[in-house]
Amino acid sequence: MREFKRHLVTSALPYANGPLHIGHLAGAYLSADVYVRFMRLMGKDIVFIGGSDEHGAAITIKALKEGTTPQEIVDKYHALFVDTFQKIGISFDHYHRTSAQLHHETSQDIFRVLYNKGEFVEKTSEQYFDEEAQQFLADRYIKGTCPKCGHPEAYGDQCENCGTSLSPTELINPFSVLSGTQPVLKSTKHWYLPLDKYEDWLRDWLENGEIDGKFTHYPEDWKNHVLGQCKSWLDGGLQPRAMTRDLDWGVDVPHDIPGHEGKKLYVWMDAPIGYISSTKQWAINNNKNWEDYWKSEDCALIHFIGKDNIVFHSVIFPAILKAHGEYILPYNVPANQFMNLEGNKISTSRNWAVWVHEYIEEFPDKIDELRYCMIKNMPELKDSEFTWKSWQDANNNELVANIANFINRVVVLVNKNYDGEVPEFDESEVFTGSNGDDSEYHEMELLTLNDDIHEMCEHLRTFNFREALNQLMAISSKGNQILQYNEPWKKITKEPEMVAVVLNISLQYVTAISILVRPFLPSTSDKIRSILNLPLLEENNELDEMLDKLSENILLIEAGHKINESNHLFTRIDDIVVSSQVEKLKNSKMENVQSPVSHKPVKEEITYEDFIKNDLRVATIIAAEKVEKADKLLQLTLDVGFETRTVVSGIAMFYKPEEIIGRKVTLLANLAPRKLRGIESKGMILMSENSDGSLQFVAAPEGAENGATIS
Ligand code: 2FM
Ligand code: ZN
Repeated sequence: MREFKRHLVTSALPYANGPLHIGHLAGAYLSADVYVRFMRLMGKDIVFIGGSDEHGAAITIKALKEGTTPQEIVDKYHALFVDTFQKIGISFDHYHRTSAQLHHETSQDIFRVLYNKGEFVEKTSEQYFDEEAQQFLADRYIKGTCPKCGHPEAYGDQCENCGTSLSPTELINPFSVLSGTQPVLKSTKHWYLPLDKYEDWLRDWLENGEIDGKFTHYPEDWKNHVLGQCKSWLDGGLQPRAMTRDLDWGVDVPHDIPGHEGKKLYVWMDAPIGYISSTKQWAINNNKNWEDYWKSEDCALIHFIGKDNIVFHSVIFPAILKAHGEYILPYNVPANQFMNLEGNKISTSRNWAVWVHEYIEEFPDKIDELRYCMIKNMPELKDSEFTWKSWQDANNNELVANIANFINRVVVLVNKNYDGEVPEFDESEVFTGSNGDDSEYHEMELLTLNDDIHEMCEHLRTFNFREALNQLMAISSKGNQILQYNEPWKKITKEPEMVAVVLNISLQYVTAISILVRPFLPSTSDKIRSILNLPLLEENNELDEMLDKLSENILLIEAGHKINESNHLFTRIDDIVVSSQVEKLKNSKMENVQSPVSHKPVKEEITYEDFIKNDLRVATIIAAEKVEKADKLLQLTLDVGFETRTVVSGIAMFYKPEEIIGRKVTLLANLAPRKLRGIESKGMILMSENSDGSLQFVAAPEGAENGATIS
């Protein structure tokens, strides 16, 4: 174990395109928070950095779907994240956002350094281009059939059905999310980081914890699944990776670099640099030097992430930092695996999730209960599962039955028999003579407590948070056993000296627990401290001080100190709460899969004769323009084969006029003409409507002639 002067902890920046669910918490936030709070309690210099990732195609797609701007989307979710993290107790020292000017400058500066050092390779490649929308398509903007499992809606970077990573050109029948048309391949130039050239030092660094023969970290401290993923990436042969993309939302390639037009930094050169810009902002706010954390070998850099970001943080980001030349590389990347929910993978699109902000709204006084259950089931080494039943069990059988019960019994006994004062005791009088072994009973129990706490700390230091929590519960169980074994409630009149010793020890245990519980359950720590009438923790060395005291057999809470009345720390959760949450989850999934559209009742039956009254024709849009003072309307000119027609259509929220010229559509040609905003509309273009109200053209096949009948 190497001691560092400073520690810098980061949690993956969440994409600001949707709320946080419990899988996020379990992946990268709770683990980091437990670690950071522990390190603060040990008096370490540690900074905990986070922020919102406000770029990326998913955000632009959402904006497009919702008819709003990317900025509005990220503003909304950034604010929600800040609130959610604060309420669930993720104690960032600074929480930033990548739309901040400081972030744009920071990532551009790093890009520029790499560019000037000649680290990049410029390459022209063929990428999908949407001719209608006149833009290159990010991987997420292309959908098609998955070559592995046949799922018809796989994304250009991944199939969400089977989980396979894809590149857009692997998709069968690709189509653009923007226009629905088939994209074409077009060449474009980008800046690539030549990972292949870095392979030797990357391997040496990952496998031996050295760079140029100099120690960097202990690879044996890294989790096996993290090293395993990196190794299989290296073994597969590293390829140069494009650090830029043709996008319209994100950090611009610096404008002093020739060919920058239309190019943005890709997530790899953007999101993790968010850790750096966030640290800079923290340093500005706190009058510190950010370089002491990013550019000093006295600092341990630790990235908490989910398993989907392992290669990103253990290969790609280190390669960027090393190519720059002035930065330290991560000391450890303690990635977690995934947390499943009630037997299924958490899925945002299927709404199979427990949303953290909803939990907070429904259970505002059960924050630590969620933290407890999540840490207990943290997917540290393999995927784990959250169930509402496990949440109830953890609360009822452990928090209520163990910690709350122990503390309540001690506090009630002390209030009842000692007027709330920590009992004085004299061990020599109590035990000497009766049983030689028991003569140092008090001291012995405190020594055991000391050993047990050291064990818990070791688990925390090595990122074994589940074990650390087990150890905390074991300490509380020991406290309970001390009470159970000695039964002070039966002996208060006959053996008052012994009762005084036992209750004094018990209060030392409760005081210790008020500190030990802090990394996991911060508000429970506050509640116990209030019951004990001790100052609330500032997370400033209190655990370290406690260990010093215990090693010298100094009491943690002094005899004569007056405590407060008991107050229930946790209360039982009833079965009905569990069943209604499970029900809610299942119902919300149903709603999403069977969208309201399919819930619309089928209309009254008609005959074939009724149907063929509709004269449906193929047509092509040859001109389109906005209708003045009408947000929703476009005026379209159609080639219907035998004539040219004007149709006014309510699609302006979903399509720009220039996007739809040339599109083959279906037209109800014999609809009685109508005047809309003074324009005569002859016919109606057929559209499908999604559950969110968005409209799409019912497309006519490419080969169909204008005027062709549809029946
Ligand atoms: O995968 C993600 O969620 C991205 N927002 C990147 C997170 S890691 C980053 F912050 F470096
Ligand atoms: Zn698939």
